[in-house]
Amino acid sequence: MLVIQLMCVSLLCGHVISSASRRHSLWVLASYISGSTMFPEFSVVLMLDDIQVGYFDSHVDGIRRTAATEVKMDLLQDKVFILRDIWESMKKRLNLVKLRFNLTTGVHVQQRLTGCEVMDGQPVLIMYKDAANGQDADSLMYNMTHFTASRRPDWVIQWDNMKRVFVQTLYSNIYLPVCAQTLKILLDREKRLVTRRVRPRVHFLMKQVVGGAQLTCLATDFYPRHINLTLLRNGQAVDEDQLTGGTVLPNGNGLYQVRKTLMVSVEELRLKHNYTCVASHLSLDNRLQVSWRAEFSRSHRIPIISVPASVALAAGLLVVLLWWRRRRRSKGIAVETQEQQVEPEL
Ligand SMILES: *[C@@H]1O[C@H](CO)[C@@H](O)[C@H](O)[C@H]1NC(C)=O
Ligand SMILES: *[C@@H]1O[C@H](CO)[C@@H](O)[C@H](O)[C@H]1NC(C)=O
Ligand SMILES: *[C@@H]1O[C@H](CO)[C@@H](O)[C@H](O)[C@H]1NC(C)=O
Ligand SMILES: *[C@@H]1O[C@H](CO)[C@@H](O)[C@H](O)[C@H]1NC(C)=O
Repeated sequence: MLVIQLMCVSLLCGHVISSASRRHSLWVLASYISGSTMFPEFSVVLMLDDIQVGYFDSHVDGIRRTAATEVKMDLLQDKVFILRDIWESMKKRLNLVKLRFNLTTGVHVQQRLTGCEVMDGQPVLIMYKDAANGQDADSLMYNMTHFTASRRPDWVIQWDNMKRVFVQTLYSNIYLPVCAQTLKILLDREKRLVTRRVRPRVHFLMKQVVGGAQLTCLATDFYPRHINLTLLRNGQAVDEDQLTGGTVLPNGNGLYQVRKTLMVSVEELRLKHNYTCVASHLSLDNRLQVSWRAEFSRSHRIPIISVPASVALAAGLLVVLLWWRRRRRSKGIAVETQEQQVEPEL
């Protein structure tokens, strides 16, 4: 599972959900492991956009969907032959690699990301990307007009013309229609999940550090993952190169978070600028913003209010209030601790 997630970060997650809800993808993340481990030899995670909708793995009697997944996957049982093809092909490829590099013992892993994307219901691409023992091996993409392929120059698996034509035909004429059709069925079934909009919660975190303060704007628990987070100093956008962070990360609950941090020097703190963090997201009719000024020891949340935003505003105020109270309380505790530490010395 760990390997699969790494692959997701580098290959899949950059790919997913381009513009709003018009473009969708179905990805198969497959791992084939040889050698003795506690993991099944072959396992598959099925992703609809960035939502896991299925998990299959190998058992003595073939591929089975694991009962732990809630989603009804019965319709996919008739697509299991494709998973078997993938299994066979990955097994063959890893065997070639083992032979070529004399890997007679130990654990070896072949990974594949494969799937398709549709836009407004029309297929736009199908691709696969293979890695052996964590290293990119080769890939193929078909975008409805052209095939693009890449492979490591020294790679063990080289195709002659026949083989190339065969693989291209397999992907464009068999895998693509099956994938696009499965994607359509899943989209209809999971419409609510795919098109849901979850509003970000936005706050400022201030941390005193040597030489000044770290001002972090945090947006969390939103969906879909696209968000624009801007930091303003007195109403002017702060240059992106002054900010660190900005990578959108999964929150572990199907939602996302992102943070951007600005280092503010002691001199700049004295100037008592007004810092504002602005979030724009599909779930928001208007932008959400939170401001902070050095002379105030708390955040102000000032959304450009639209009626549905007022609920989020109330919740946000509560969060800010709780945060502020906790901060004050933790200061109090710090003082007490100090007194306790001093006492024995008296
Ligand atoms: C693999 O083993 C064979 C025979 O022992 C040897 O000739 C060959 O160079 C080895 N290849 C690698 C990549 O180590
Ligand atoms: C497909 O890729 C080729 C080569 O990269 C490009 O020239 C072509 O415009 C692309 N077609 C579509 C439909 O995106
Ligand atoms: C800080 O700036 C924002 C946006 O520029 C503005 O809406 C807000 O009222 C300002 N806050 C303070 C306390 O000056
Ligand atoms: C973020 O900004 C880009 C470029 O300005 C814009 O195209 C996009 O629609 C924005 N996204 C959101 C969610 O507001």
